[in-house]
Amino acid sequence: MDKRLFLHSVAGAALVLAASQAAAQNTPFKIGLILPMTGQSASTGRQIEAAARLYMAQNGDTVAGRKIELVVKDDTGLPDVTKRIAQELVVNEKVGVLAGFGLTPLALATAPIATQSRTPEVVMAAATSSITEASPFIIRSSFTLPQVTVSMADWAPKNGIKKVVTLVSDYGPGIDAEKFFKERFTFNGGQVVDALRVPLRNPDFAPFLQKVRDEKPDALFVFVPSGAGAAVMKQFLERGMDKAGIRLIGTGDVTDDDQLNDMGDGALGVVTAHHYSTDHDSALNKQFVAAFKKANPGMRPNFMAVGGYDGMRVIYQALKATNGKGDGPALLAAMKGQIFESPRGQVFIDAQTRDIVQNVYLRKVEKKNGELYNVEFDVLKDVKDPGKNR
Ligand code: PHB
Repeated sequence: MDKRLFLHSVAGAALVLAASQAAAQNTPFKIGLILPMTGQSASTGRQIEAAARLYMAQNGDTVAGRKIELVVKDDTGLPDVTKRIAQELVVNEKVGVLAGFGLTPLALATAPIATQSRTPEVVMAAATSSITEASPFIIRSSFTLPQVTVSMADWAPKNGIKKVVTLVSDYGPGIDAEKFFKERFTFNGGQVVDALRVPLRNPDFAPFLQKVRDEKPDALFVFVPSGAGAAVMKQFLERGMDKAGIRLIGTGDVTDDDQLNDMGDGALGVVTAHHYSTDHDSALNKQFVAAFKKANPGMRPNFMAVGGYDGMRVIYQALKATNGKGDGPALLAAMKGQIFESPRGQVFIDAQTRDIVQNVYLRKVEKKNGELYNVEFDVLKDVKDPGKNR
């Protein structure tokens, strides 16, 4: 090639590049929010979408010159559907970030697409420890089951609970909860006398609870995903388990703030460990809860909402830090290491694990102004996921 022609084509290529960059800067930045909006986990979808929209209403819909567009899709809670939607969002909609993921299998189904397309996957709900290891492009703003379970396994034996039966949904987060509870509780001198697993879909808790009643442990430790807690509570009370002297303990998923008010006074006194309560006492949380309720009459934010709200913060901040370029690996790098105050307290996205480090609270169900709340009475600060680096 002669030199003039060469220089000409280099200049041309640079122009094309600049033009496409300028175009990219002017095009909206799309966030693909994939959620179960129907089916068993619909409350998770409802909570996260409401929180994401609240975040945008409060922080504006333009970041570093890019207009933010939220593309919400219902995966009905089925991994094949999630995967198809994720592919479609990346290829056709050209989303800069994939977000949401109401259940572990949905987050895992998307992991290969995040890796191949180098698109950050912000997990706002799903909580099996290993999820972040499924793709280097996964960042988590929710929590992990080992994180909250271990705190419960420390509290129980100090509070007269020596013999426990565990009851968990039979999939990733349930297996994590079962394993980490047993390990820590046994280490602390307790005894897990039986470990029951119930199907994730349409579970009938009755035969399992009957078995627990016969086994007469000091407490039943429960993990079921958000949305399933009310059914467990109802059947626990109907069978008179509490009257038989069996206490109900668990991770905060079972006394989910979305459903707690409908569980009735039978839920009073139930102790759980979790990273967020609607009742969390901070100025930021009070503002968050008030704004969420105002924008969504009849609802109150649960831990799913907070995962969605903070996930949006992580995305906004990363886009700002990279001057709106929206390049996947650069965004990912800017998501790692973020430290900020969440409605749940101080949080940190660990750059090594891409998982969230946060406080875990012990809480007891109490009535305040006629409503049931998980009232925090103790805190473990800056808890890392105990499921990592074992
Ligand atoms: C999950 O599937 O990872 C999951 C879903 C709901 C929860 C916790 C974990 O409340």
